[in-house]
Amino acid sequence: MSSDQPNAVPPGIDPDRLAELLDRERAGWIEARPRAVALHERARRSQVHGTPQHWISQFPPPVPLVVDRAVGARLYDTDGHEYADFGLAATAALWGHNHPAVVAAVRDQLDRGSVTLWPNEDHVAVTEELQRRFGLPFWQFTVSASDANRFALLLARVATGRQRILMFNRAYHGSLEQAAAVLTADGVIPEPGVEPNGVDVRRTTKMVEFNDLDALERALAPGDVAAVLAEPVMTNGGAVIWPEPGFHAALRDLTRRTGTLLVIDETQTIPAGPGGCVREFGLDPDLITMGKCIAGGIPAGLYGMSGAVAAAAARYTEHGDGGLGSTMAGGPLAVRAMRAVLGEVMTEETYAHMNRLAERYQRDVAAVIARHDLPWHVGRLGGRVSYAFTPTPPRNAGQLYPRVGSSLRDALWLYLANRGIVLNGMSGAALMSPMTAESDVELHGTLFAEVIGALTGRGER
Ligand SMILES: Cc1ncc(COP(=O)(O)O)c(C=O)c1O
Repeated sequence: MSSDQPNAVPPGIDPDRLAELLDRERAGWIEARPRAVALHERARRSQVHGTPQHWISQFPPPVPLVVDRAVGARLYDTDGHEYADFGLAATAALWGHNHPAVVAAVRDQLDRGSVTLWPNEDHVAVTEELQRRFGLPFWQFTVSASDANRFALLLARVATGRQRILMFNRAYHGSLEQAAAVLTADGVIPEPGVEPNGVDVRRTTKMVEFNDLDALERALAPGDVAAVLAEPVMTNGGAVIWPEPGFHAALRDLTRRTGTLLVIDETQTIPAGPGGCVREFGLDPDLITMGKCIAGGIPAGLYGMSGAVAAAAARYTEHGDGGLGSTMAGGPLAVRAMRAVLGEVMTEETYAHMNRLAERYQRDVAAVIARHDLPWHVGRLGGRVSYAFTPTPPRNAGQLYPRVGSSLRDALWLYLANRGIVLNGMSGAALMSPMTAESDVELHGTLFAEVIGALTGRGER
């Protein structure tokens, strides 16, 4: 979530045209949104940065998009503009806003009670379904994916008696203090912008680059790492970064040989398929974590674990809470919504629609890149599409730093949003939902060709 970038302009883009376009689009955004401007002014008096979360203030628009209604795959703002939403709340709204199956389930549950601290049948139906889809036998509920990772890592330490964790450089796994680190020539240091007097990441965290198996082997060799925490395909750093052939087999083998647990974070990779990457790739981790879209827009997270980890967890929590859990975790609203998502939304048909539209979106972007001979790359994982300003697919997220093209990302985001298309505010990535319309994907293709034509100065070609 940091922005430690010199703002270089990617090759192929005319810097003067970019600066001009960015100014014009920023001014146009503000001019057409008097109500959003007024609300932002008001918000500044009671919210840090004038936004409910700090990172909204780092998104491209000069005043935030103020949403009046979110319906299906569309957003309607307070100034009367309508948008096709490809940002989908950074995967949290992957199924579309207010999916009818989720709305019906939540409405019904509201009448039956929204928090009780007692179990109901939905909890069992959900954990049984997770078992079936993702393979791991035992599951626990959390309020967020950050918490799922926090508790998974705590249990990994409990089960192994080791303290350290290992992560891939520039991966994001939520607001975890020991994960707020980056790899430099001098080793692991706190991520820029993170309080240096917090957790000592040099002591808690090892880091290697994604796809670097030699470095991974060296880092695990001393046998002091409790768990490797990994996304199966890296989705942060503004790109889709694929594991190289054999990577996952070697990762599993190295972790097993060194007594290290493997935690696979599926939070952003659910768009890969109805059983995430774990099922698509046939992975066999010790723990799985997720959140965001899993309850269709109601806050929720989950972690699954092997029998061995569950046995350690049971021993560990025999006499106390062990620092695990949260009062609202597994709340009836969230669990009812999860049951609806797993039973009625995460189906083969849903994924077929998302994949078909994502393929089209990727093809449109690739065609523009090719027509303009730009040394850029567009990647896809199921319903997620993302472009990187690198000539070949990135191998790791470290390669994408120092960041290149932040002002270009802002310009693209604003040009599209001023014309009715919203991308992810942080990375510019796009997600397809089961409610996304093909005509919106087509509109994106047309506008993308138009804006790249304007920025290269070579027209649409
Ligand atoms: C891979 C991954 N894991 C975990 C999280 C944390 O999710 P949340 O912010 O909902 O707790 C994120 C958030 O972006 C993520 O990308």
